[in-house]
Amino acid sequence: MPQKRTAASAEEAAAFREKLEAEGKKLVFTNGCFDLLHVGHVRYLKEARALGDALLVALNGDDSVARLKGPGRPVNPADDRAEILAALESVDMVVVFEEERVTRLAEQIRPHIYAKGGDYTVESLNLEERGALEKAGSEIRILPLVKGKSTSGTLARLKKNNNAGGGRRLRLGILGSGEGSNMEAICEAIDRGEMDAEVALVISDREDAAILQRAARRGLRVVTVRPGDRPGRLAEPAQKEICDRLQAAQVDLVILAGFMRVLRAPLLDAFENRILNVHPSLLPEFPGLDAWGQALRAGVRESGCTVHRVTAEVDEGAILGQERVPVLPGDTVESLRERIHEREHTLYPRVIGEVGEKILAGE
Ligand code: GAR
Repeated sequence: MPQKRTAASAEEAAAFREKLEAEGKKLVFTNGCFDLLHVGHVRYLKEARALGDALLVALNGDDSVARLKGPGRPVNPADDRAEILAALESVDMVVVFEEERVTRLAEQIRPHIYAKGGDYTVESLNLEERGALEKAGSEIRILPLVKGKSTSGTLARLKKNNNAGGGRRLRLGILGSGEGSNMEAICEAIDRGEMDAEVALVISDREDAAILQRAARRGLRVVTVRPGDRPGRLAEPAQKEICDRLQAAQVDLVILAGFMRVLRAPLLDAFENRILNVHPSLLPEFPGLDAWGQALRAGVRESGCTVHRVTAEVDEGAILGQERVPVLPGDTVESLRERIHEREHTLYPRVIGEVGEKILAGE
């Protein structure tokens, strides 16, 4: 193995790949921000290295981390992150790159194996990136994430410690009409320390909604509100009651998690810019009901989910985050719904965390 290189060039990485190939060996390639190295990273990189004979890490440069992870990131500059990574036994070479995707590097380096952590599947990789890897003949391997270990969790714990005594947690009010799996995902993210928040209240328009049972099992405060007789609408007294209850619970941010009725005044005014919704399509495509069926009927190759702010127009407020999900041949409404649902469960807590930080910071 050559002397370890921190911040090698793409050309050096390509030459390294050729050298390994000549020796009948395989280069494993992976990429990421690796901002605050934690044990999840260390285990993942060890597993990735074990897929071949040498591991090359493409490390996002500082500008691309800021674009991918938002303001305040990276915590550590690229040179430091590269040096720390290269000090690991499992890492043989580090290349810093400024794009958000590894398409160009994949074309240039043509790794034998591409490893990706996680909540991805081969199908949910970015199409351009996947195309470049397939063209390069790279075998794509998805490795499981180490549960409960994440940079955002580390940051949330630090923040919580800093706030201890003086700070306060974001208070969420969750509204749902159905299963409540998004509520569960939000609670799990809170439990893992990934956001500094608590669920102050869960409200449903349906007495029999599973979300109420799930919330009660978690010991959360639950309320059912009588919505009135018009499907999809919420009668004025119900709008008022929900508004009063959210205010009484001192809610900072209202989370619609499968709430199937349209909000109006006084709720929208009382919580202006403070109501979020998750919708199962890449808005502005397929707003309204049955977004999965709409996507299938339109014959699109890709759909996904969107978190957006709630305004008086249904599914039209500012988009805060999206996740793409491929539509596969033979997909049914159920299979597509299930795959999109999974992505909602990571997207929604992440966006809530980002919005919540700004609220707590007084922005
Ligand atoms: C989710 O798929 C969400 O995208 C959808 O309801 C489901 C709720 O699931 N919301 C909408 O269609 C809003 N227009 P959950 O109750 O398991 O969280």
